[in-house]
Amino acid sequence: MINICLFGAGLIGSVHAGNLARHAKVKLRYVVDPRPDAAQRIAALTGAEIVDTDTALGDAEISAVVIASATKTHAQIAMQAATSGKAIFCEKPIDLDIGRTDACLDVIKKTGAIFQIGFNRRFDPSFRALKRRIEAQEIGSVEQVIITSRDPEPETEEALASGGGVFREMTIHDFDMARHMLGEEPTELFATGSSLVSPAYAKLSDFDTAMFILRTASGRQCHINNSVRASYGYDQRVEVHGSKGMLKAGNRTPTSVELSDARAISRDKPLFFFVERYAESYAAELDHFVECVDGKRNPHVGADDGRKAMILCETALASVKSGRLEPVRY
Ligand SMILES: NC(=O)c1ccc[n+]([C@@H]2O[C@H](COP(=O)([O-])OP(=O)(O)OC[C@H]3O[C@@H](n4cnc5c(N)ncnc54)[C@H](O)[C@@H]3O)[C@@H](O)[C@H]2O)c1
Repeated sequence: MINICLFGAGLIGSVHAGNLARHAKVKLRYVVDPRPDAAQRIAALTGAEIVDTDTALGDAEISAVVIASATKTHAQIAMQAATSGKAIFCEKPIDLDIGRTDACLDVIKKTGAIFQIGFNRRFDPSFRALKRRIEAQEIGSVEQVIITSRDPEPETEEALASGGGVFREMTIHDFDMARHMLGEEPTELFATGSSLVSPAYAKLSDFDTAMFILRTASGRQCHINNSVRASYGYDQRVEVHGSKGMLKAGNRTPTSVELSDARAISRDKPLFFFVERYAESYAAELDHFVECVDGKRNPHVGADDGRKAMILCETALASVKSGRLEPVRY
C-alpha cells in the first residue's frame, strides 16, 4: 500500500479524496486543511486522520502527497514535501509567481522528487485518443489546433478575488493542451481580453472573454477561445488539422438520446462543469501518479510542463497589455 497525505479538502480535494479512497493500492492516511469542517468531511468519508503539515511530512510511512490546497500554498508545501522525501502530485498552478515557481522547481530537481502537475485534461479519454491518433500519423503533420474552452457560468466575486486571474487559473489548462497537441513549443503569442459577461472581472482588471493565437517556430498555429458564459453548458472541444485530415473531440453529454420532432433535432446539453465533464481524467491522472510512485519513475506531465504553461500565461498578459504578438521566453 502507498500511504498518501492529501493537502486541501475543498472542491478539487474532495474529488481527489474520492479517487484515492477507491484506489486498491492506496491508503489515504492523512488529510491536512486549516478548515476543520472541510477536513472532517473528508475524514468521515475516507477514514483519513486529520493532522498538521509537520506531522504528515514527518511520518516516514507517507510516501506521497496530493496538494489540492489554495493556490498560494502549493509551492511551499511542495518544497517541504520534496525535502521530506515524498513524491508529489500538485494541482495547477505551481505558483502564481514565476520566481517562486522556479524556486520550487529547483528543490524538486535537487531532491529528485517525483512530481506530477494536475493537468488532468491530458488524461481525458477523448483527448488522449486524439493525441494517440496524431502520433499514429492519421492526419499527417499537425498544422492547426483549435481549442474551445468555455465555462458555463462566471466565478463568484469571492473566488475571483482569491485566484490569480482567468489566464493563470483557467486558460493554463488550454495552454498545456496547446503545447501537447501542437507537439512543438509555442514561440509567439497574441492575446486579447474583454469583459462582456460579469462586472466582477472588470473590477479586478481581469477578463471574462478571451482569444489567443499561438505559433511555433516551424509555423504551426493554435487558436484558443475562452468565455465564462456558455448558455448551453460547459463547452470543451479540441480540433487538430493536419496535412492529411482533421481530428476532433467534441463535448460530452449525460446521455446520447436525441429527440427529433417537427421543430428540431435536439439532444442533452454538455455535462455541466469540470467535476462531471472530467471525472474520468481526475481518476486516471491519480492512477498514473500511483503507478509512477510505485515504479519510482517520473510522471509524463511534470514540473516543467507546469512552468511552461505559466510562462504562456505571463506572455498572454504581456500581449494584452502591449496589444502585440509577443515572443515566448521560457
Ligand atoms: N485541475 C483542475 O481541474 C482544478 C479544478 C479546480 C481547482 N484546481 C486547483 O486546485 C486548487 C484548489 O482549488 P479548489 O477549487 O478546490 O479550492 P477550495 O477553496 O474549494 O479548497 C481549497 C482548500 O485548501 C485549504 N487550504 C488552505 N491553505 C491550506 C494549507 N496550507 N494546507 C492545507 N489546506 C489548505 C482551504 O482551507 C480549502 O479548504 C487551486 O489551486 C485550483 O487552481 C484545479
